[in-house]
Amino acid sequence: MCGIVGILGKKAVAARVLEALRRLEYRGYDSAGIATLEGGLLTRRRAQGKLRNLEIRLSNEPLDGLIGIGHTRWATHGKPNEINAHPHATAKLAVVHNGIIENFRELRAELQADGYIFSTETDTEIVAHLVTRELDRGMTPLKAVAASLPLLRGAFALAFLFQGEEDLLIGARKGSPLAVGIGDGEMYLGSDALALAPFTSLIAYLEEGDWVVLNREGATFYDKDNAPAERRAQRVAAGAFLVDKGNHRHFMAKEIYEQPEVVGHTLTQYIDMVTGGVRLPFDIDWKGLSGLSISACGTAYYAGLIAKYWFEHLARLSVEIDVASEFRYREAPLPANGLAVFISQSGETADTLACLRYALQQKQTVLSVVNVATSTIARESHAVAPTLAGPEIGVASTKGFTCQLTALACLAVAAARGRGELSMDDATRHVQSLIALPGLMAKALELEPQIEKLSRTLAKARHALYLGRGTSFPLAMEGALKLKEISYIHAEGYPAGELKHGPIALVDDDMPVIVVAPYDVLFEKTVSNMQEVAARGGRVILITDSKGAAECGLTPEAAIIMPEMDPLFAPIVYALAIQMIAYHTAAFMGLDVDRPRNLAKSVTVE
Ligand code: G6P
Repeated sequence: MCGIVGILGKKAVAARVLEALRRLEYRGYDSAGIATLEGGLLTRRRAQGKLRNLEIRLSNEPLDGLIGIGHTRWATHGKPNEINAHPHATAKLAVVHNGIIENFRELRAELQADGYIFSTETDTEIVAHLVTRELDRGMTPLKAVAASLPLLRGAFALAFLFQGEEDLLIGARKGSPLAVGIGDGEMYLGSDALALAPFTSLIAYLEEGDWVVLNREGATFYDKDNAPAERRAQRVAAGAFLVDKGNHRHFMAKEIYEQPEVVGHTLTQYIDMVTGGVRLPFDIDWKGLSGLSISACGTAYYAGLIAKYWFEHLARLSVEIDVASEFRYREAPLPANGLAVFISQSGETADTLACLRYALQQKQTVLSVVNVATSTIARESHAVAPTLAGPEIGVASTKGFTCQLTALACLAVAAARGRGELSMDDATRHVQSLIALPGLMAKALELEPQIEKLSRTLAKARHALYLGRGTSFPLAMEGALKLKEISYIHAEGYPAGELKHGPIALVDDDMPVIVVAPYDVLFEKTVSNMQEVAARGGRVILITDSKGAAECGLTPEAAIIMPEMDPLFAPIVYALAIQMIAYHTAAFMGLDVDRPRNLAKSVTVE
């Protein structure tokens, strides 16, 4: 969760880069660094630890450059030492980076084979060498960046500074935020508008896949296909800086878009990006466990239901799961040596907390998956599995959910390893699938225009049905919950196989039936249920991948084609589609998306 800054100034920039970094220190403080051009030559100062250490370094060895980039690091790949501190540099450029380059091992091997020498453990250094390779081939900085960006998989934001280029900064965004600030003969880049608040309130935001070329005259934006793009600047009101919606209409939209980044952050809590292994922040004797119970409420409960499939399938661990408001009064007998897992974004939900206290009385080991580290649920647990979604303002949980799923998927892989149910090779394969998630989520976000259009027809419906099998069943329930809580359209999530036992009676030419079906082992079964709907004149909307679309044997009213991925963890990416459906339906209806009627973000009553 790093912070990045760039300034193209009329006077020396180092002090102002530091000031902006101070406002980004909430994003990480494992190390900090700055690069400027001193007489056209790239010069860096970096320091391990908090920004204060960099400040001391700069007061002893000041920098005078009029152009610079800066970084405050939250370590993902490589130890938090000075060598791994950003900016990373070659003889031709320096770069700062926020996010994860998922294919860094392949690119690193390729660049090493081409003779490029690496001095850090970071994924960022491959970006520096990749662009340098294009410069070495005679390309201009613009062309070199344009040629390199498509080679990077993952979710990231980048800022580049080039040797000898006193009037050029380049920024890029894919899955991680980046804002451009416009000043008086000066230009700025920052991870958020808050970082740039001391210099300007005129802000333009990069959209997904954009990159931008800055000089003192202004900014030129390009979209993901390298076509020039217009990104209008807007004044950010002084008070809005702290709870900034960016260029989104609602917090929910912003939070949907943050997912590639926050899921990436959450992964770094559980995965050693350098070795590609799972590493939990606590010890659990998985082998000695007699069983696992999960309780949660609302969206967190559906995250738990999906995790049940993972724990049972991967770790062969039987899972008992219930909504907390039922579990707390059920007096369920819990086995000796049981692990009780509680999932909560806020960490304050009254029913979930009551279940946790019951589990403590029952002598369970208590593990909570929480987003607010200081919450009561976190404090009362034996161990905490953090989600790093950041503050979630929209009442309907989005990024909280996918971060919960991410943490739970990592726990399931760790449990499977701990119980001797998963070979090292299979674990590595699963970890690679997990590392791919932020990049896949960024791709899924590209479906937004299609989903927005589809939502206009959904907005006319009074009822909707969501169907799915396997892990797509709890996701179907989450899709229905999202739709009802913010658009007030009555929706049900049903296991596709149960359709024939009741809900099929509801099928008519009015009610949309949204089928969640990645091309997995259950696909054919789900498709049969979908055919049953189509045969009765039902309106089918299919969320699948390209193989699923090719094999489904009918033409649905609409098909949302998700990127190809490991079907095991598909719910983490498919969640974005169901969230965007609910969001755009409610936004189109002009409803108060962030504060739906009768609901509350944190429910501290029974
Ligand atoms: C409320 C919120 C939901 C959330 C649920 C559980 O109902 O509106 O979005 O899923 O509480 O909250 P928690 O903080 O425990 O995850």
